[in-house]
Amino acid sequence: MTKIAPSILSADFSKLGEEIKEVEQGGADYIHVDVMDGHFVPNITIGPLVVDAIKPITNLPLDVHLMIENPDLYIPSFAKSGASIITVHQEACVHLHRTIQLIKDQGVKAGVVINPATPADVIYPILPDVDLVLVMTVNPGFGGQSFITNTLSKIERISKWRAELNLNFEIEVDGGVNVETAKLCTDAGADVLVAGSAVFNHQNRKEAIQNILQATKG
Ligand code: DX5
Ligand code: ZN
Repeated sequence: MTKIAPSILSADFSKLGEEIKEVEQGGADYIHVDVMDGHFVPNITIGPLVVDAIKPITNLPLDVHLMIENPDLYIPSFAKSGASIITVHQEACVHLHRTIQLIKDQGVKAGVVINPATPADVIYPILPDVDLVLVMTVNPGFGGQSFITNTLSKIERISKWRAELNLNFEIEVDGGVNVETAKLCTDAGADVLVAGSAVFNHQNRKEAIQNILQATKG
């Protein structure tokens, strides 16, 4: 079953609570929280305070995507705030195993992310240690960008490795996912679809979520 993780980056922040409840009722599986520091990516967004605030209003797992430098400094805060999954960029981690272990030590699921230009090979050694692999299908920093199609071959490779190594991490995709691109991702092996603008720019969020999930079955 394909899962969907609406990214609140495209939500109306003046009524974030209502937005989250609406996607929860609309069939979301995770709430995707995009954390940006203005250094690793050219944008600044959400900190642990916001995660603290949204935790009590949803039963869904909070999928916290850290697009920040020095993630080790902030992992304990995001864990305390109620993150269920914390993903860190391979490109931001000099000692990736240590960082993944730090996440797990907080009792939180650990994920690794790669940018579109990063080859899949660099995460091969960490695959047995992660609960989730996130393949960026746009360059991180902003919602509403176009899907980069040549990332699909990486998803296929990672999915093949998962079977060969008999592992069970989830494969998530993030960026430009909509009714046109969702099936390309799931056909390549993705299990979790992050969708920001395709969900929150739609008046009826439930319909948007269901349309994306339906498109994967076509
Ligand atoms: C991009 C973020 C994404 C973003 C996706 O840096 O990591 O999660 O919100 O937005 P859409 O679905 O609009 O491409
Ligand atoms: Zn994201």
